[in-house]
Amino acid sequence: MVKASARELIQKVIHLFHYGINVWYDCFRIIRYSSVWRGMNDFRRQEAWIRADIHKLEKALSLKSPRPGFGGYIFSRLADNVDRLSMTGKKLDEVDMLWLSDVFHKYVEFQSSHGCGLDRLPTGIIESFLGSGFCSEPSSAPASPEEKYDHAVEFDFRKFAWSRHSIRDFSAQLVERDLLFKAVDMARKTPSVCNRQTTRVHVFDDPVQAGEVLKYQGGNRGFGDAVPAVAIITSDISQFFSPDERNQMWIDGGLFSMSFVYALHSLGLGSCCLNWSVSSKTDRAFRKTGFIPAEESVIMMVAIGHVRKGSRVASSRRLPVDRIATFHSSETPAARSQG
Ligand SMILES: Cc1cc2nc3c(=O)[nH]c(=O)nc-3n(C[C@H](O)[C@H](O)[C@H](O)COP(=O)(O)O)c2cc1C
Repeated sequence: MVKASARELIQKVIHLFHYGINVWYDCFRIIRYSSVWRGMNDFRRQEAWIRADIHKLEKALSLKSPRPGFGGYIFSRLADNVDRLSMTGKKLDEVDMLWLSDVFHKYVEFQSSHGCGLDRLPTGIIESFLGSGFCSEPSSAPASPEEKYDHAVEFDFRKFAWSRHSIRDFSAQLVERDLLFKAVDMARKTPSVCNRQTTRVHVFDDPVQAGEVLKYQGGNRGFGDAVPAVAIITSDISQFFSPDERNQMWIDGGLFSMSFVYALHSLGLGSCCLNWSVSSKTDRAFRKTGFIPAEESVIMMVAIGHVRKGSRVASSRRLPVDRIATFHSSETPAARSQG
């Protein structure tokens, strides 16, 4: 008995030691590759701030009653970052420029129509945008989701969700690239913090290469040698600039992964999420393959393929709703039932 508890204690110390190494490794990656420690003139840092600020403005514009004159500080930071970028000779790509131009127009239009003319905005900003040639026509009208919403929810999501299962038995059929493309296209609508969209997908649709990738993942024993395609979901951590965002990559990447898996299901493809709960040693070994850029962290892998006829699935029972959800209310149950 005494011996067993001594063994247990040693085991705990070893676990703690490994945990410490892994935490230090994660910390090192954040210091090295996120924007927390990058200089003010670093391109990735500016790009991340620009995307976040564009979104802050468009988000405020979508409120029920945006406050006239709002956002001067954000607008000024946005302009500063655009200025800095042009000074370093770097350029935003076309997509960012389009977003920027779109929001710029809507913002200026809103402020002007509420008597907060351009003169009330921080000096020099308008010129800086105009001078940078960012001021093209807006790309789209303000979105009103109502019309789309009415039709889009006309399907049984519960049925859809409960018909998805993790598939660990695929047919040998190759996975069509256009289906994988479509799945990424659907998943890119996933929400992300400040709409920064840090998630990336690396697709391996050659079964031999998929097998190579899966050698580094521990949860595919018994089926990994017959997986037609693998997607590695990663997060570009250079887009995170606040130390408080230390967990954001897992959240944004996890949400994206779920959308991706549902998208695959909607296209008739089977999939199985594969954890990347690996030691720092395995992560470093995997990086040596060169499959993913240094600034991307692996969120998870997803095995993908056509489902083999006659394949079985694990029942993977779910907890009942009342074990998951707690409905908080200031009213007593009696008052609620009367109401
Ligand atoms: C992040 C994550 C990692 C997972 N890793 C593995 C894995 O390594 N191997 C595996 O066979 N299944 C893995 N799964 C699948 C789960 O076992 C499965 O989703 C769960 O049992 C629920 O079953 P269902 O997907 O069929 O509904 C993983 C699932 C998630 C969400």
